[in-house]
Amino acid sequence: MDFPSYYLDHIAGGRLIIGLIASIHVLINHPLAVGAYPILTFMEWWAHKHHRPDIDQLAYKITFVVFIVTTTIGAMTGVGIWLSTSLFAPFGIGSLLRVFFFGWFAEWLVFISEVCLIMWWFLSWKKADTPEKKRKHIKIGIALSIMSWLTMALIVAVLGFMMNTGDWSQSRAFIDAMTAPLYLPQLGFRTAFAFMTGAVFVWFCTGFFTKKNPQARYWVIEKLSHVTIVSLIFVFFFGIWYWSRIPEAMRANQAVALLSQGFSGWLGKFHSLLMWTVATFLVIGVGGWIVPRLIPRWALLIPTFMGIWLLGHFERAREFMRKPWVIAEYMYSNGIRKDELRFLQSEGMLTHATYVKHRKVTAENRIEAGQDVFMISCSRCHSTTGINGVLDKFTLMYGPGDWNADGMVSFLGTMHKTSTFMPPFPGNRAEKEALVAYILDLRKTRKPLEGAQTEGIRIPETQTSH
Ligand code: HEC
Repeated sequence: MDFPSYYLDHIAGGRLIIGLIASIHVLINHPLAVGAYPILTFMEWWAHKHHRPDIDQLAYKITFVVFIVTTTIGAMTGVGIWLSTSLFAPFGIGSLLRVFFFGWFAEWLVFISEVCLIMWWFLSWKKADTPEKKRKHIKIGIALSIMSWLTMALIVAVLGFMMNTGDWSQSRAFIDAMTAPLYLPQLGFRTAFAFMTGAVFVWFCTGFFTKKNPQARYWVIEKLSHVTIVSLIFVFFFGIWYWSRIPEAMRANQAVALLSQGFSGWLGKFHSLLMWTVATFLVIGVGGWIVPRLIPRWALLIPTFMGIWLLGHFERAREFMRKPWVIAEYMYSNGIRKDELRFLQSEGMLTHATYVKHRKVTAENRIEAGQDVFMISCSRCHSTTGINGVLDKFTLMYGPGDWNADGMVSFLGTMHKTSTFMPPFPGNRAEKEALVAYILDLRKTRKPLEGAQTEGIRIPETQTSH
């Protein structure tokens, strides 16, 4: 409403791009930065204490991989989240920035320190050739591990807040936003998850780097199996606590969240797949603990792929479950605030939108006005003819024959009740009719819809006369 809409036809406005960038970022941040740095620091320390240069060498090689990945793809996708959210959901990230300004500022300082520490740690590894220097070097690793965890700890506050704002909904206080109900369970869950996937990532690299040194491999398998098992137990208990704090209405979205609408009937199968994945982790963990010598090199690669699957799916489900909200009970995914909804429904959204062609629906401008209505109220989740295309969705409901315009108008009035993941329609009756006219026209023409980045911004010549 208050921002021009950046929109890419075919990919539902672009939320998938946010999702893709953010998921890659998390898949690097959790296992590599939060999980692997402390584990590698531990390896360095242990090697130093027990005079095992081969373990030190191995830790160094793995650190090289982690260093390259975190400072390139990891850092770039971190910035990419800012870029993509401010293009596709400026209202959401804008509101979050107002709430979390100092949290994010602190996070930025921590992140800068993290980057400096990783460079310092990695680049000075070889120079730490005396016990004295080695001890100092290990301390850099510890500082780095703390900073990596802290960046996550600060950002998790924002993610938890988006699902459940807790006391902030009354107080509007920064401290209440930072300590919203999901904060601790989610932080515990992610920390445990990071250690678990961090351990399996170090296994993964070890599989490649220890062809000629099975002794080092047995050591890594055995030591890190403890990390895997203990963190798996924590993942489980924090997971239950986390789940119990997710608002009821959002939990009800789980079937669609985990599998999408078409496959929601497979929820039972999905749950058993989840259980099998966890069981496999446990088996590999226990096996590595008791009989590390029997674990073949290739088996070390498997848990990493399962970890990617679990973490990726978790992020996807978490993002979906929050629908229809971008900030729970405060702002819908299309940027409409809950407290302005009734007003817009009676007064009309176009009248109060900044970047639209028409401020009032007339018989002549109906289709154009309807396009603006689509852009404001649907385009953050639906495309026209591409992914999650609005035409496909109506076809699912009404079939390939003729669609009844009145039926469509009344659907818009109740869509948030029948599909709880969609926000209520934020406009008046004339705007519903305009949207339906636009969709019916689109069905005939299948004309591509351009975003503000290609169309330019549009402001009506005559300002509203009210
Ligand atoms: C918060 C995101 C979101 C917004 C905003 C949104 N939708 Fe949806 N809509 C969805 C999702 C997700 C589905 C189900 C997708 C699937 O098939 O899994 C859906 C399904 C539908 C369906 C299929 C029927 C049903 O109930 O499942 C129709 C029709 C539809 N949307 C129309 C609209 C229109 C028109 C708008 C704008 C007024 C809109 N949607 C706004 C997310 C959204």
